[in-house]
Amino acid sequence: MSTLAKQNFRGAYHFSPRVHWMNDPNGMVYFDGEYHLFYQHHPQGDTWGPMHWGHAVSKDLVNWEELDVALAPDEHGMIFSGSAVVDWNNTTGFFDDGPGLVAIFTHHLEAEGSHPIQRQSLAYSTDKGRSWTKYEGNPVLSHESYVDFRDPKVFWHRESNRWVMIVACGQTVCLYHSPDLKSWTFGSEFGSGIGCHDGVWECPDLFPLAVDGDAERTKWVMLVSIGADPAFAEGSRTQYFTGDFDGVAFTPDAASAQVRWIDHGRDNYAGVTWSDIPAEDGRRIFIGWMSNWMYANQTPTEGFRGAMTIPRELALETREGVATLVQKPVAELEAVRKPVLSLRSATAREAEEALRKLQLVSCEIHARLPISGAFGFKVRAGGSNETVVGFDDSDMAIYVDRTKSGLSGFHDRFSGIHAAKLAGAREVMELRIFVDAASVEVFGNGGQAVITDLIYPDTDAAGISFFAARPDAVIDALSVYDLTPRNRG
Ligand code: FRU
Repeated sequence: MSTLAKQNFRGAYHFSPRVHWMNDPNGMVYFDGEYHLFYQHHPQGDTWGPMHWGHAVSKDLVNWEELDVALAPDEHGMIFSGSAVVDWNNTTGFFDDGPGLVAIFTHHLEAEGSHPIQRQSLAYSTDKGRSWTKYEGNPVLSHESYVDFRDPKVFWHRESNRWVMIVACGQTVCLYHSPDLKSWTFGSEFGSGIGCHDGVWECPDLFPLAVDGDAERTKWVMLVSIGADPAFAEGSRTQYFTGDFDGVAFTPDAASAQVRWIDHGRDNYAGVTWSDIPAEDGRRIFIGWMSNWMYANQTPTEGFRGAMTIPRELALETREGVATLVQKPVAELEAVRKPVLSLRSATAREAEEALRKLQLVSCEIHARLPISGAFGFKVRAGGSNETVVGFDDSDMAIYVDRTKSGLSGFHDRFSGIHAAKLAGAREVMELRIFVDAASVEVFGNGGQAVITDLIYPDTDAAGISFFAARPDAVIDALSVYDLTPRNRG
């Protein structure tokens, strides 16, 4: 048996395409009881190629059903990233019999002997996304000069009663508005002299969030992904800004003078949020592509390549006086938990003994303990493999060490240790660790510090252990859950 044949890198509760290549999540929209997830897809190959929109639906954000490819390249080019909305009021005129879905995406045209042209286009569906018609007036928005111009994210802005588009323009984002999704007016540009410019700006998003759950104190959050420039060791990553938005322009607040990242691992890129989540639900739900352009085309999976992060609920919470973006795994993941271990007020030694008996690949570990020194877990441990998820009290940071996690030779920058500092954590440390066939996602102190990392261990490396600087340290609570949804595994 070859080494690779032993490995199954398909996650039990992460979305991956049945076969072939996937990158960015696209067109996420909730409609008629279904969460739609479209994605950058190459349906003929396991590496990036002519881009289509793949499509999956879910009723619970955990179990996904893959449907037919939604959008394929045409005379205007490949189908790059974009968004989808429900046109409730038939502003487009596409829907005579009740609301339908409109996808707003980038057409990427390779032109021989010159630079590619990127323009924004529309497609619509009257059958809940099962089939799509491209608008005959495509493209609907071009840029007057050559620039990377892509990844439109569109939302309905109630206050100005029109659609707003945020779209990446080289190393800035541009904001446009429209009454009907077909004709667009330029509003403003944002990004010069602020934020990180280590690569091209891509996949923006813009949405309001209540600060500390107080609707009276709402701020706008802008997400901007930064394309990998090989000069930067981190590769692809996603920054965020907070501020105000008046329907035309985004004004950053003082906290945005500092570059802030949504994730401190290597593998959470191009993430954006769902459109049209019902008001009575009220959540802002995010999903990211769990990879990094640095090595995305070389990861050692077979037959498919690419997975999404778990869906996460975004919130703004005040930490050390600053409205800070936090991410929490969506509650739906709790419904598929199978409790395996639950300890209260156990010593580190007792925890270590109990964990030693477990063998789990797809699981969640939830721990809460008073801070009294460094501690951590080893997951996907066995043979020469281990992935360490720990807390270092000397710099108040959580970290993932994937230097011994398994296969890493496919790229010289894959192996490494990634850390995220905690704001305001001085007494209690809470960790939620999601482990799956090829990933770890760590949420520290209510999702204020997040690390998402791919790992490629042997399938039978399924051990879990605990270590603490002080073996008599007392853990308030430690729970382990098997996370293998019913239709998998
Ligand atoms: C981000 C990205 C987007 C683009 C797509 C192409 O990962 O580069 O900007 O639309 O991927 O697949």
